Amino acid sequence: MKSKLDSVLITHIDKLNSAGTAKGVALVVKGILPPKEGNGPRYLVDGFGNQEFVRMNSNSYLGLSMHKDVLAAEKTGSDAFGAGPGAVRFVSGSQMPHVDLEKRLASFHNRESGMIFSSAYVTSMGVIVPLLTKETVVISDELNHNCIINAMRLARPALKLIYKHNDMADLEAKMNQAVGKGRRCIVVTDGIFSMRGDFVPLKEFERICNSFNDKFEEGVTTIADDSHGVGSCGETGRGTEELTGGKVDILIGTLGKAFGVNGGYLVASKTVTEYLRETAPMYIYSNPITAGEATRVLKVLDILESEEGSSILSHLSEMTARFEKGLTDSGYETISGPHPVTPLMVRNTKKTADMIAWLRKNGVLATGLNFPVVPKGDEEIRFQINGDHTAQDIDFVIDVLKKFK
Ligand SMILES: Cc1ncc(COP(=O)(O)O)c(C=O)c1O
Repeated sequence: MKSKLDSVLITHIDKLNSAGTAKGVALVVKGILPPKEGNGPRYLVDGFGNQEFVRMNSNSYLGLSMHKDVLAAEKTGSDAFGAGPGAVRFVSGSQMPHVDLEKRLASFHNRESGMIFSSAYVTSMGVIVPLLTKETVVISDELNHNCIINAMRLARPALKLIYKHNDMADLEAKMNQAVGKGRRCIVVTDGIFSMRGDFVPLKEFERICNSFNDKFEEGVTTIADDSHGVGSCGETGRGTEELTGGKVDILIGTLGKAFGVNGGYLVASKTVTEYLRETAPMYIYSNPITAGEATRVLKVLDILESEEGSSILSHLSEMTARFEKGLTDSGYETISGPHPVTPLMVRNTKKTADMIAWLRKNGVLATGLNFPVVPKGDEEIRFQINGDHTAQDIDFVIDVLKKFK
């Protein structure tokens, strides 16, 4: 017999299913075939026999997750330090790769200090919750990632203000509204917005925030979560800051997207990381990533900062431009830009589902995004270009899309 709670939960799930907004059971990848004959890697999916898929929905922008040196680096870390950390850092200590990685991330972003967490989601929580005191006003972009929204829900600031997406005039209006309502002001934005691949005009954002610094007793602090930007855009892969020339006080990134590993981090002043190591529950009471993961990321950074890294980045931007042109030449609407997230704006839930089914039938893995993940009317297929896609892969996907009726 079903429990009463189960019945209520089933009703909820049924509602999502009938509205077409349920995410459904995730596909299970059962194998990866290496690149051959001009194709990039192909994916085998449980339930689809031997059908080979090109994957267009991965955040692994650099395409390095199967790189042999990166895989070997993981083994070195695990052989030396074991498969897992065994406890949180204040209990049994950090392992050398954790500390090396924090220093390396700080120097990669030209900051005093770095701090790693088990994911970028908890990094955002770990930064935002402790910094939002009862006397803080927080100002946030309306399209910020769910981790920022939930961190703001968990905190108890004096006031929350939301400005229109990337609208700097509205940000300024909200800053004016915030004056006098708290001792501290925190302004938070995504760097790259993951649904559309657009980005905050960070230089202007920085200028506006700085101009209000003297109007708050504890000043204005800026935070950007650039989980989709770092490693995927900017001439040397330093993300939105490099694309725009702007800089924030606290920069959050992930180790699980372009870097192809797992975990999250922030870089900031030494004082900020010292404070957060004492106050962020998501850091204090939760295990760090494994030493093997940390050594993998260190290897990815070596590659990114080498000639191989620059050629991956230029290939990535070439493939992104090729895909974008393919979409527009085929009569599809996209949002153009330098980031490898390339949305096909469908603007209709049912048609999005039909197109995803067509793509899947023809060997392409892609993800449809519907309300509430994106606003109503912005339904889209989010294509993501990776460094291991070839020109042949891109042309193949465009050809499948051209044949959709
Ligand atoms: C802006 C942003 N922050 C955080 C995350 C979560 O990253 P992680 O998987 O490392 O928790 C994402 C992933 O979608 C994201 O887009």
